[in-house]
Amino acid sequence: MTFSARHLLGIEHLHPVEITTLLDLAETYVAFNRAPGKHSDVLAGLTQINMFFENSTRTQASFELAGKRLGADVMSMSMQASSIKKGETLIDTALTLNAMHPDLLVVRHPHSGAVNLLAEKVNCAVLNAGDGRHEHPTQALLDALTIRRAKGRLHRLTVAICGDIAHSRVARSNILLLGKMESRIRLIGPPTLIPAGARDWGVEVFDDMRAGLEGADVVMMLRLQKERMDGGFIPSEREYYHRFGLDAEKLAYAKDDAIVMHPGPMNRGVEIDGTLADDINRSVIQEQVEMGVAVRMAAMELLARNLRARAGAVPA
Ligand code: NCD
Repeated sequence: MTFSARHLLGIEHLHPVEITTLLDLAETYVAFNRAPGKHSDVLAGLTQINMFFENSTRTQASFELAGKRLGADVMSMSMQASSIKKGETLIDTALTLNAMHPDLLVVRHPHSGAVNLLAEKVNCAVLNAGDGRHEHPTQALLDALTIRRAKGRLHRLTVAICGDIAHSRVARSNILLLGKMESRIRLIGPPTLIPAGARDWGVEVFDDMRAGLEGADVVMMLRLQKERMDGGFIPSEREYYHRFGLDAEKLAYAKDDAIVMHPGPMNRGVEIDGTLADDINRSVIQEQVEMGVAVRMAAMELLARNLRARAGAVPA
């Protein structure tokens, strides 16, 4: 068994072989998604419910498309209009939906750990679409697929993750994944946006972009997560852009063939220069979005296989 997990809650508990299995399967879906007639029955008969308690464009759309292309019955709940607004707890909402026998539950929640808690209460497979500042596993997997396609490998690369590391579940899941795949990770940002224990994670930490980008193969920019900040972490956006915003001049310190990534949504002129973000010779930002659908299809297929295997193993 190369992918034995029941849920996809984070990168933390995945084995490198499971990561490779998932990426290899996702690779087959890249071609599938580019061809006309993109429909299969891999998830036929299964019900997928998407519950997004936080805003999302890319993640929600791609989970929905992924499920539909694989033939699942997909329902996206509008959490703004749900009974959560009437005071129902997360767990009560989950138990209510669980009683309708979904097979796959895709959840995004503003609190770290909320998705893990929910997974303990339901019978179906749960996919974490981002919980607080904890994990965002499918984002790290789609980033890994994008890097692997551009660089041909995931090991022995120098990956610079820049910006608001402290509030970023994307950074956390990427650090875990790239560490497992034996890449070298550098975190670059103002000290106020680097988590206290970061130096114990087996990464290098820089507060100077030019020094941190020197010789990097991959430059991953992060959004300033203002909604998670409760005070003045940066003097001003203008000053931040000056010191930490990626532009062509700073990128010149990385390798000549370094790729530029951003999980989106982007704040042009805050963490990245708009022209650079659109430069198809350097930026793989749109490819990340494309890989997102393929990775989510692969994740749901693998979890569905395990779901079916377990159902088959239970005596009637
Ligand atoms: C990220 C998220 O929501 O964690 N976006 C995404 O899923 N592509 C990053 C962010 O919000 O900045």
